[in-house]
Amino acid sequence: MNILVTGGVGYIGSHTCISLLESGHSVIIADNLYNSKRETVEKIKYLTNDNVDFYEIDVTDTQAVDDIFKNNIIDGVIHFAGFKAVGESVKLPLNYYYNNVVSTMVLADACLKYNVNRFVFSSSATVYGNNTVPFSETMDPLPTTNPYGETKSMSERILTDIARANPAFSVSLLRYFNPVGAHESGLIGESPNGIPNNLMPYVTQVAKRKLEKLRIFGNDYPTVDGTGVRDYIHIMDLAEGHVVALNNLTEGVHIYNLGTGKGTSVLELVKAFEVANDITIPYEIVDRRPGDIASCYADVSKAKQELGWIAKRDLIAMCKDAWRFEIKINKN
Ligand code: NAD
Ligand code: UD1
Repeated sequence: MNILVTGGVGYIGSHTCISLLESGHSVIIADNLYNSKRETVEKIKYLTNDNVDFYEIDVTDTQAVDDIFKNNIIDGVIHFAGFKAVGESVKLPLNYYYNNVVSTMVLADACLKYNVNRFVFSSSATVYGNNTVPFSETMDPLPTTNPYGETKSMSERILTDIARANPAFSVSLLRYFNPVGAHESGLIGESPNGIPNNLMPYVTQVAKRKLEKLRIFGNDYPTVDGTGVRDYIHIMDLAEGHVVALNNLTEGVHIYNLGTGKGTSVLELVKAFEVANDITIPYEIVDRRPGDIASCYADVSKAKQELGWIAKRDLIAMCKDAWRFEIKINKN
């Protein structure tokens, strides 16, 4: 199939482009490079020995999106493009609602106009709010604590309503848990700007001695060792999940958790990183981070039963691959 990948130069999108190309699909990327670098497009081509069409456009731009649909035969869309920083979304809610929700509407509109009936959307486990773990697709989404989370709930709702009104329109809402790691080559991975917000990039920068020590946000949660528990998933497993979801897409709306089903505490992740890479990670315990929940991990039985997909790579592989990318690419 010929797949339009919005945000295909970003962290999850770039790895998914590799999986798509390796599975025999063709890829058209639309990305405005707001949070990514053009050189990643060349790396995708290099790693797959394949071609990629790249459009540097903003996917909230109706005319620019229409031009892509008019000039290409498109069989499906995977919509990654969006802003994702939770803290920033609290300060700049309008930017987040505009970019994340309007982009979804513009793309869905173009799909209806050009009869493109496959739509895969990047959602997040954040839509489960503070439900009881493990989070299952049958649970009602709860209000999230921030505008970013609301943009995901709203986009899910918009796509669901569109699919109800247009029975041929097939939608897969993929709720990601915590993607970490990098492509095994170490050539592409996650490069956050400034000081990282998320745990794994912070740990790799401490390992690199760019940052002095990890600050662990609270050790008084009701978890195995008091630190926050999350479901870390290797980025290539997540990428492959998209290909499987796309290949199996049927009419209607389908929601899938993409996680491992296994919860890992902050201290367990730090230990795994130390063992995997033989590096000590200095840390201190500080106050809880506002908005954090104690535990977040997936019930993964639906994706396994309906798609035959499970995450294959373990925590040690995630830590090794994250570190390989950090030393290979982020040289400063
Ligand atoms: P990313 O920032 O690395 O990638 C997003 C890409 O979209 C970037 O290349 C950026 O330049 C592009 N982009 C943003 N707005 C755009 C616009 N209006 N037009 C064109 N391009 C635009 O983020 P990521 O981690 O790869 O996340 C991809 C998607 O998955 C996002 O929608 C994010 O909310 C969602 N998600 C991410 C995580 C995570 O932990 N990374 C978890 C759950 C959901
Ligand atoms: C965060 C976002 C979530 C988003 C996800 C992936 C918040 C509140 N939530 O989730 O919406 O989908 O990223 O982008 O920001 N931790 C530390 N020290 C650090 C960093 C993190 O102890 O320096 C802890 C956190 O308290 C948490 C765990 O590590 O228990 C994972 O944190 P993080 O990587 O930021 O992901 P989430 O909080 O799950």
